[in-house]
Amino acid sequence: MSHGPRSGLAAVSSALLAMSRHLEVRDVLKTIVVSARELLDAQYAALGVPDDHGGFAQFVVDGVSDEQWKAIGPLPRRHGILAAMLDDAAPQRLADVRRDPRFEGWPSAHPDLVDFLGLPIRDGDEVLGALFLANKNCPKPDGACGFTEDDEELLGILAQHAAIALTNARLYERSRELTIAEERSRLAHELHDAVSQKLFSLRLTAQAAARLVDRDPARAKGELQQVAELAAEAADELRAAVVELRPAALDEDGLAATLRTQVQVLDRAHSARVTFTGHGVRALPAAQEEAVLRVAQEALHNALRHSGGTHVDVSLERRGNGAVLRVGDDGRGFDPHTVRRAGRHLGLVSMRDRASGVGGRLTVESAPGKGTTIEMEVPGG
Ligand SMILES: Nc1ncnc2c1ncn2[C@@H]1O[C@H](COP(=O)(O)OP(=O)(O)OP(=O)(O)O)[C@@H](O)[C@H]1O
Ligand SMILES: [Mg+2]
Repeated sequence: MSHGPRSGLAAVSSALLAMSRHLEVRDVLKTIVVSARELLDAQYAALGVPDDHGGFAQFVVDGVSDEQWKAIGPLPRRHGILAAMLDDAAPQRLADVRRDPRFEGWPSAHPDLVDFLGLPIRDGDEVLGALFLANKNCPKPDGACGFTEDDEELLGILAQHAAIALTNARLYERSRELTIAEERSRLAHELHDAVSQKLFSLRLTAQAAARLVDRDPARAKGELQQVAELAAEAADELRAAVVELRPAALDEDGLAATLRTQVQVLDRAHSARVTFTGHGVRALPAAQEEAVLRVAQEALHNALRHSGGTHVDVSLERRGNGAVLRVGDDGRGFDPHTVRRAGRHLGLVSMRDRASGVGGRLTVESAPGKGTTIEMEVPGG
């Protein structure tokens, strides 16, 4: 069977259409191999995508039955003519592959290949794989016709499409990995900012209850109620972080009231005096309210855990269309420049990210012995 220019074009076009209907890269590769074998009228066709260990990550064949494929045994390694296509990115059109000096033989169940046409699949300078055919069906009884230059050109078109399919598959995989990484970091920040803070307060309250239980059972009972409340809140925060809900309290009560409640809870749980003042703040865009709440939580958490201060004051004020949050303590302070940005300290990094994520600004004012003030400004709507 031979193709005139028009029927050849129609066949290529239908092969390309068939490819575009497949989404799985393996299906696309299979379609390319099947189309190549049919269009160029060969007995065997294959496509190999190398891995990093001298073998193949994918190897797709057509013209070989399942039994034959099993009998051949393991996938080929990259040697001989295969290596020439992949390593030198050079097309190989051979009248008899067995007579080529690079030929190194094949397993006993391997079909006997004679005439051979193989092309690298390339994306720029990079070789992504190889597409090859063997044993062109021949109308003449002696069977010695082999692949032509036209065949090489046609196979070149299919190799280009294989390159596109492989590149797309890589891009897709890469973007999926990025999404997973982003999701993981979001979850880490959310758990850090909201949940670990609640658990910290919970631990302190439970310890207080344990100390009081013999001496003052009535107060111990109060502390234990507090433990139950904090545990319920931690559970809510955890659920919110996992399903990416914004804290329900923000929708129900608004930012200022939510902050006030959380401050009251902390005031009761810790020995430091924790206060809140709010002035004339209007509702802000949801993302900004959420960011302010998270930053306040982390700043409070740091003040209660690290500062050793006796007072922590939280304020929320209107500024222009937006708002300013301030969390100040009278504790030991620290030098913000010497905090290592190593993995263990997520808090300050996370606060900065949250502020810039909503077009806001975060400043840390602190010096040893001078206490600490965290200020966050958000632009509003
Ligand atoms: N209000 C504060 N008073 C005193 N020191 C503080 C205060 N806030 C932060 N620091 C110091 O800055 C360091 C970094 O804070 P950051 O919140 O980034 O990390 P962390 O609290 O140590 O750990 P994480 O927040 O990841 O649980 C703290 O370890 C602490 O030494
Ligand atoms: Mg912290």
